[in-house]
Amino acid sequence: MPLVSGHAVIAECTSRNLVAGAFNTTNLETTMGIVRAVERVGVPTFIQCAPTNAVLSGFEYIHDLVSRRLADCEVPVALHLDHGKSIRAVEDALAARFTSIMIDASEEPYEENVATSARARELCGPDIALEAELGSIGGKEDEVGADLADATDPAQVAAFVDAVGCDMLAVSVGNVHGHAPDARIDFARLEEVRRESPVPLVIHGGSGLPAEQLARLHEFGVVKVNVASDLRNAMIRTFGEAWVANPDEVSLIRVSTHAVAAVADVVERRIRMFNPSAK
Ligand code: 13P
Repeated sequence: MPLVSGHAVIAECTSRNLVAGAFNTTNLETTMGIVRAVERVGVPTFIQCAPTNAVLSGFEYIHDLVSRRLADCEVPVALHLDHGKSIRAVEDALAARFTSIMIDASEEPYEENVATSARARELCGPDIALEAELGSIGGKEDEVGADLADATDPAQVAAFVDAVGCDMLAVSVGNVHGHAPDARIDFARLEEVRRESPVPLVIHGGSGLPAEQLARLHEFGVVKVNVASDLRNAMIRTFGEAWVANPDEVSLIRVSTHAVAAVADVVERRIRMFNPSAK
């Protein structure tokens, strides 16, 4: 089917009490692996791409390869801009026909975060789903980002969502970008945030979190969990192991095929962790 709007993924996940994975892609093989897993599990999903992920290709290229692969996929998938840190990035992703957008002005002071995020809302209009971020998530994404976390303040949540008009809220509640084996969700804070938020929540930094924490997120108003490092590492490891096994290896297609399978396995495991009730 064609790409669906982020609204459709949110609506179906909310009504079926599911959590959508949001998996970053950079290239053909990663996209193939993600969609293979989505077809196995049947849970609506976001495929996402941050500006830093598209340095080699650009957003148009990512749009074309994702939508081409989805043409014969029966599961709803939205194409989402991850960490749009400027209005320019939002405009570029909309021009490339992304169907869901994240504006991340979370490192700006509160009032500027509101103003920039509200401008993104205007640009998205009613048809494109908008995610905004309140509080700053620690760690790095493609070596870019805040090192230090700034936890989401529950007292700011309702007013922020109301002023911006976002459809999802990314929160900082102990989650950290990148390989962060010590990261843990602060469920008490997540519960306070959820009580204040009129919209579903987004957890970034899905790679570092333990399975038993990921399996509880659906009880806390979370609709979307981002995962990037785990699948990237699966792909890079496959190529590394192939070279170690045979430094004269020249069958790129054989190694690429193994890499697609490795990504699919990681993505499937993550979707099942978020959704213990999935088929
Ligand atoms: P991880 O790399 O920790 O999975 O985080 C990805 C992410 O949150 C992208 O926005």
